[in-house]
Amino acid sequence: MGNDLLIRGGTLVTPAGLVEADVAVAGGRIVAIGSDLGDAAESIDARGLHVLPGCIDTQVHFREPGLEHKENLQSGTASAALGGITAVFEMPNTNPNTDSAEQLADKVARAERTAHVDFAFFVGATADNAESLGALERLPGCCGIKMFMGSSTGTLLVDDTAAIRRVLANGSRRMAVHCEDETRLLERRALIEGADVTVALHPVWRDEQVALRSTQRLLDLAAECRRPVHVLHVTTAQEAELLARHKALASMECTPQHLTLFAPDAYEQLGSYAQMNPPIRGIEHQRALWRAVEQGVVDVLGSDHAPHTREEKDRPYPRSPSGMPGVQTMLPLMLDAVNAGKLSLLRLVDLLCHGPQRLFGIAAKGRLVVGYDADLTIVDLKARRRIEARWIASRCGWTPFDGREVTGWPRRTIVRGQTVMADDELVGAPGLGQAVRFQIPQGS
Ligand code: DOR
Repeated sequence: MGNDLLIRGGTLVTPAGLVEADVAVAGGRIVAIGSDLGDAAESIDARGLHVLPGCIDTQVHFREPGLEHKENLQSGTASAALGGITAVFEMPNTNPNTDSAEQLADKVARAERTAHVDFAFFVGATADNAESLGALERLPGCCGIKMFMGSSTGTLLVDDTAAIRRVLANGSRRMAVHCEDETRLLERRALIEGADVTVALHPVWRDEQVALRSTQRLLDLAAECRRPVHVLHVTTAQEAELLARHKALASMECTPQHLTLFAPDAYEQLGSYAQMNPPIRGIEHQRALWRAVEQGVVDVLGSDHAPHTREEKDRPYPRSPSGMPGVQTMLPLMLDAVNAGKLSLLRLVDLLCHGPQRLFGIAAKGRLVVGYDADLTIVDLKARRRIEARWIASRCGWTPFDGREVTGWPRRTIVRGQTVMADDELVGAPGLGQAVRFQIPQGS
């Protein structure tokens, strides 16, 4: 039997390092890596290009159901495909929230009809569903539980210590957590009330202590409940230092925004378009995050793609919502960082492919090896390009990186052997995406 697809002449980024070889694909899987792999129905010339395992974005907000004027599963996954992302983990703060088996099944069914890339969904923890989380986290299409310890966009919040304990005690998968201390946020709310407040106060209100206290509290409770946790979008030097000492208990995510934007410049240049939770902070925190990337403390990069319309973002602070799009720009920004010598290509693949696979127990994705799904991101490390808002497929139609020149660009996105993006164009109809599978018993 011939192969379905041959990718010839590229430099492959495999778990064993960089290898010059061809890749053969059949039945949606990688069936051989080497030379002289026979013929194929389709052949791709990858000479001069790097072939990565498909990049996985483990934190996106795609807003469907309920907030489709900002984004939907089709536009969000189109944006992902254009940005070289082959699978996304989507967050539960939609309307209604994804906090039950019914809401999860509804999202999976919607995504099966419209997604351009593969997908899984977080189920949101609440004080009311705590006892069912152990069963919910095992359902097909679920990548785990998400808990908001501080309030952000939407209504999900678990702040009470007894409720956090119940959430952590039910279930065993690594739990993703938004760490901001709600009590301190409420105590400091007066800082952003009044006539002359500006968005520059956002990181003053949601200061380092807001983040650190919550992360410390989570670590204490997670240790007590023996539950592995994943601290999302870490922003402070203090948290990075703390998390470096607790690797067995907690994994750490960083976003490209926090690694590339910093205060006060971001707020001066972008106004409330730079507003997100936890906030963009000063350059010393950014340097600490890069050190944590370098030292292996950071486990994954997630875009925290959180689109809001321009009209919403243009409201005067603090009525402007927090969040910015990012699923399409994560890989170009990070390839640019590779070219700037901030991290190696192997380290980037660890953060976007191997790391997600390892932390979340993804079955047969995240590695360029025989037997795994043929999810592949082909990139041109030398391409010099400008990120422009008109390239963005997200419904929000903007990017905080508009006009930024980068070196390094995704050329092709392949999901289980099928090309979904080539040279900045979507290929194929929506609905090709499937639910990501995990190495845990599925079903109830
Ligand atoms: O800035 C943010 N926006 N942080 C979050 O945690 C949520 C997100 C959103 O959904 O808009």
